[in-house]
Amino acid sequence: MRIILRRISAGAAALAAAGLFVAWAGIIDIRASTGHWRVTDWFLHWVMRSSVRTAALGGHAPRFTAAMLPLAAGHYETGCAGCHGSPAMPRPAMVENMLPPPPDLQHVTATWNDAQLFEIVKHGVRYTGMPAWPTLERDDEVWAMVAFLREYPSLDQAAYQRLAGFSATGSPEFTTIVKSCEGCHSSPGLNETSLIPRLTDQSETYLRDSLEAYAAGKRPSGVMKVALSRTSSEDRKKLADHFANQSAATETGRASEKSARGKALAERGDRTRGIAACAACHDAAGVNEAYPRLAGQPIPYLENQLGLFRSGNRGGGAYAAVMTRAAAGLSDDDIHALAAYYGALPLD
Ligand code: HEC
Ligand code: HEC
Ligand code: HEC
Repeated sequence: MRIILRRISAGAAALAAAGLFVAWAGIIDIRASTGHWRVTDWFLHWVMRSSVRTAALGGHAPRFTAAMLPLAAGHYETGCAGCHGSPAMPRPAMVENMLPPPPDLQHVTATWNDAQLFEIVKHGVRYTGMPAWPTLERDDEVWAMVAFLREYPSLDQAAYQRLAGFSATGSPEFTTIVKSCEGCHSSPGLNETSLIPRLTDQSETYLRDSLEAYAAGKRPSGVMKVALSRTSSEDRKKLADHFANQSAATETGRASEKSARGKALAERGDRTRGIAACAACHDAAGVNEAYPRLAGQPIPYLENQLGLFRSGNRGGGAYAAVMTRAAAGLSDDDIHALAAYYGALPLD
């Protein structure tokens, strides 16, 4: 008997040591980017639903009144919409990649009863980012939120904004948006070492196409997707117009030996290697408005974009495929030379 017990405890200790070893070796995947397996997703959500169901047993909702709604709606706007979105604002791009992503509550509240919603809103959900209510001492505010969540699926943008007590469009003022863009895109941050492009002197068509491509995920950039996440397509049209109608005296990079080689390649291409002349599409009179100007862009930005086109990861507007083809045969040296040439090219 004693031997069996000793064997069992030795086995348990070995198991614990093996478990610790696996954790220490760093092979447990904690990356949110790849998501869970379908079965893990299902299991975790099942555990969450079961736990909420049991914790909410015996809970009784007070009578809901209309007076509860405005304070809850106002709190929803500041405390919940940033993760769950609202009729006035889609879920911000950043939270879509949380694991799990916060659901659109207009579609899920019907699957819970009042006591269960109370349980979730008051206590939050561990390991998911869903926070507990800021104070646990009183329940009345939490019940007001439950009353609001019951109304929530039937609210359109106007009704939501009336309840939440704000009348603007929900998105920030246009001048505030422009300032946020300039924080990255205007002079002090932009010099010959920059990875950020200049927006001025670019056609309105190209700017608008680019903004729509970022917003729709057709030109992948986490930075630009988040920068645009609180803009409507109307805002983006105005932004394209705003920046296209400015011209800035930007300093251009210095001409170098490299740029002589770049100039030849840009103007004539290289038939033997199947490289088209860039000048057929860029910085020449009468070319398609959807083709960007390259003159005076920061050299590292140009290099980076050419690398992205070459590897097929740049994306863009309706004509991006022609550029992907144009970049396919470029060598690293070609890219350095072409970027040096266009970066040093004066604007006009
Ligand atoms: C930091 C982000 C974040 C904030 C802020 C947040 N939530 Fe959540 N919420 C989540 C996440 C993530 C889940 C998903 C949990 C899960 O599926 O297990 C969730 C789930 C929920 C659910 C359950 C929905 C379902 O069917 O899975 C409700 C109800 C809810 N939140 C209400 C609220 C309310 C009300 C507020 C504001 C007081 C709020 N949340 C604030 C992230 C957030
Ligand atoms: C945090 C810095 C940052 C902010 C804020 C920002 N941008 Fe950008 N923007 C970038 C970077 C970096 C790129 C290059 C991304 C890429 O590789 O495609 C870029 C690219 C662009 C392009 C493509 C230009 C071209 O030549 O292809 C446009 C248009 C643009 N941004 C407009 C805007 C507007 C409008 C705003 C304000 C709503 C804004 N950006 C806010 C950093 C920023
Ligand atoms: C057949 C026309 C065509 C040719 C030839 C061409 N391009 Fe392009 N290029 C485009 C188009 C169209 C885009 C814009 C893609 C988009 O974002 O929608 C573009 C975009 C670019 C960009 C990105 C600019 C920015 O602001 O993000 C760079 C850099 C560039 N081209 C460099 C070159 C170079 C260097 C060559 C020569 C090797 C070249 N292109 C040849 C059509 C062309």
